[in-house]
Amino acid sequence: MKTRALLSMALIAVIASSLVACGGGDSSQPVAQTAPVVPQFPQNANIWAALGGDAKAPAAVESVVGHAVNGLLADPIEAPYFAAVTGNATHSSALHDTPSRLVACLNLQFKALLGGPFSYPGPVTTTDTDAQPEMCQDMVTAHQDVGIPGCVFDQFMTDLVSVLNQDLTTAGFTPTQINGVLGQVGPTLTGMKTSIVSTSPVYLAPTTASSCTP
Ligand code: HEM
Repeated sequence: MKTRALLSMALIAVIASSLVACGGGDSSQPVAQTAPVVPQFPQNANIWAALGGDAKAPAAVESVVGHAVNGLLADPIEAPYFAAVTGNATHSSALHDTPSRLVACLNLQFKALLGGPFSYPGPVTTTDTDAQPEMCQDMVTAHQDVGIPGCVFDQFMTDLVSVLNQDLTTAGFTPTQINGVLGQVGPTLTGMKTSIVSTSPVYLAPTTASSCTP
């Protein structure tokens, strides 16, 4: 996350030079339209439809992400790795995510994963001061200075499956449907492990090197 300040400065320089090249902001020029987003996981469109489609699925996914974040911040093994985020009261993500940015990027990622018309990484959508022009980060960049051990990732996945089980049951999914969802999204999530865990893990209590294999 420390690279974000440098990237922001570079982005400002690029924007400034293009404004000079264009002769500044001319409101008579046509405004570029945002291209429609191609769904990243069209094979999961059945999940999005079962969650209520564009009208209802976004709120359902935000509820899953909210419960997952609450769970990991309440878990003694996972919570210590979020201290720099929960302690970030600056409304700037220059050094570490604000809680709001983290939730916004997780929402985008899970809306894409659960078959919605989204793609990750995409734009950050929070009202935090420096977030609007930015893109959510890929999994390697987002976690490169967190030092996550393998067993902490595994704990997160266990908790996430539990949240999905509870929330999808509440949403009216049958156990068979829930197993289907887990079968569709599980491999993608576990496939992120090598991008998220650190080759130099940091052991924050109660996790110790001897209690965890990276
Ligand atoms: C499949 C599992 C995971 C996914 C999909 C995931 C996804 C994300 C996303 C989308 C972000 C925000 C990126 C951005 O702001 O641009 C993020 C940041 C972060 N994640 Fe994860 N994550 C996962 C596992 C974990 C685990 C297991 C931990 C630690 C217990 C963790 C700790 C963090 C921290 C601390 C940040 C903020 C880093 C900073 O700003 O300094 N993540 N993650």
